[in-house]
Amino acid sequence: MSDDISVRTFRPEDDAQVKKIFTDGMQSIMPSLFSTVQLSIQYHAPIVYTSVLLVLLVLFSQIAYYFTRSFLISTIIAVLFVILSILLYGAVIYAISQKMMKDFIRYSKGADLKDIDNFYSKGSNRFWVAIDDRTGQVVGCVAIQEKEKDVLELKRMSVRSDIRRRGVGVKLMESLEEYCHGKCKKIALGTSTLQPAAIALYRKRGFVLKKSDFVSTFIPISSLWFEKEFS
Ligand SMILES: CC(C)(COP(=O)(O)OP(=O)(O)OC[C@H]1O[C@@H](n2cnc3c(N)ncnc32)[C@H](O)[C@@H]1OP(=O)(O)O)[C@@H](O)C(=O)NCCC(=O)NCCS
Repeated sequence: MSDDISVRTFRPEDDAQVKKIFTDGMQSIMPSLFSTVQLSIQYHAPIVYTSVLLVLLVLFSQIAYYFTRSFLISTIIAVLFVILSILLYGAVIYAISQKMMKDFIRYSKGADLKDIDNFYSKGSNRFWVAIDDRTGQVVGCVAIQEKEKDVLELKRMSVRSDIRRRGVGVKLMESLEEYCHGKCKKIALGTSTLQPAAIALYRKRGFVLKKSDFVSTFIPISSLWFEKEFS
């Protein structure tokens, strides 16, 4: 498949396709409501999570017993309320994550993606697109941005979802790394625990995890910082 793919630098006529591939790529990493509930359960230390649930269980059963005066019914009600609390917590996290992603897409479109041609022709900044040679369509993109002296930052990596896992990401990385060689001492990039495919791709290309931070106290997502040094 990747034999039919070529990589070249961005041209203004690619703009709409690039923005769509970037937006779709970001939206595709968002977990479903069900996965968010799973993530939020895994996020907390089992001892803390279990303790909170036990406290809720006792509290709900006490309240239910006050109204029903039946041990069995109050226990059933309490268990149902605990399950409801878990789902509600997951749903809140889901809504916050969706909002954060929408804000990030909007921010990106108003920043470097607003005028790709202009932004990515400054200094060492560059933007590449992967083209399906049979159709002429843009199927992927990646960019490099000056970060600090001797460090370039990889940004905007995305491959159209219907042709993922066929080597397009590797082709984009090869072009980017070839360009960076000799221009910097290391390439850095930020990603997140929501992007296992990207993490696998970067590790495969020799990137090493340098830093990991939770996005915020209640969000079960970590931002990750990877680097690859040139020897
Ligand atoms: C990350 C992404 C760009 C990879 O593109 P791709 O064209 O599918 O990647 P490739 O086919 O070149 O895969 C190269 C290697 O990466 C790893 N990889 C890619 N997708 C993977 C997946 N879903 N699961 C596990 N490993 C994966 C594998 O090691 C793979 O090599 P292999 O197929 O020989 O095992 C693509 O999944 C994507 O656009 N994701 C959504 C947007 C995103 O997360 N961007 C990153 C922003 S930081």
